[in-house]
Amino acid sequence: MIAIETTSLSKVYVSSFGKKKVRALNELSLSINKGTIFGLLGPNGAGKTTLVKLLLQIIFPTFGSAKMLGENINNYKLKKSIGYLPENHKYPSYLNGGEVLRFFGKLSGIDGKELDKKIDELLEIVKLSKWKKTKIKAYSKGMMQRLGLAQALINDPELIFLDEPTDGVDPIGRKEIRDILVELKSRQKTIFLNSHLLSEVELITDRVGILNKGNLLREGTVKELTEKKEEYKLVIQKISESIELDNATKQSDNSYVIKVADIAELNRIIDNIRSKGILLKEIVPLKSTLEEMFISLINESEGTANE
Ligand SMILES: Nc1ncnc2c1ncn2[C@@H]1O[C@H](COP(=O)(O)OP(=O)(O)O)[C@@H](O)[C@H]1O
Ligand SMILES: [Mg+2]
Repeated sequence: MIAIETTSLSKVYVSSFGKKKVRALNELSLSINKGTIFGLLGPNGAGKTTLVKLLLQIIFPTFGSAKMLGENINNYKLKKSIGYLPENHKYPSYLNGGEVLRFFGKLSGIDGKELDKKIDELLEIVKLSKWKKTKIKAYSKGMMQRLGLAQALINDPELIFLDEPTDGVDPIGRKEIRDILVELKSRQKTIFLNSHLLSEVELITDRVGILNKGNLLREGTVKELTEKKEEYKLVIQKISESIELDNATKQSDNSYVIKVADIAELNRIIDNIRSKGILLKEIVPLKSTLEEMFISLINESEGTANE
């Protein structure tokens, strides 16, 4: 079942004088299945927060539409099924952790014993039980993000939107947040994660979208996005004169990267090298990291944008 579906969703911000226009999101069409973790990656200013705010109806689209859990996003009843951790969230610093959750619980219509129980459960999940009565001004960045996550879960939502949940959090804190997200997924929750941190997204997401300047450049599993089709690195025994290979880029005296159509072509090239009496030391199928893919994709799109 589809959890989130957008059709040509677009947002143009217009300044108060109507002079400056920012195309923050450009005809974005996307479909996210229920019970999965989707990571939206992109540099600062890509339009990630804009997309989340559009889906949550904090701002409204210039063009296009979206559905969540089968309902048009303007159906206010959807709010009950949604949890949201905004980017750079701030709570009044005189409140303690328990009070912050109580405030948001009441906003969600929970009260009494049910809310008491829920607060303790959530503080346990985000490992803040010991800090329940401590004023949040004493919390570290990681603790604030975990409290924000608990806040986003207070109404037991189906769909959870997290905007840069691990921003400013140390590696151990990040791992803790990732573990919580994986646990939520095991309970069939759908998680939409905005991040400019590739490593975060790579580790836990089912699918990834790459956004730059409002355009969705690519969408797929991390595996699909990082596999270079039919590229191999061949390392040969060092030889005095260079050899001629079709579709090959020489990397160093004894290594070449070749592009082939299929395994048969790879083997023909190997036979050709071997027939010259040259020994092969290594044949490595090439795969890029998400980071390499991301950087080359962003660079490519900048190139075409400047043309
Ligand atoms: N309220 C606004 N008014 C005008 N421009 C905005 C507004 N909010 C965001 N923008 C612009 O829209 C673009 C996308 O911003 P944003 O969605 O915050 O990106 P991201 O979350 O990926 O960093 C940026 O160029 C940003 O400056
Ligand atoms: Mg943002």
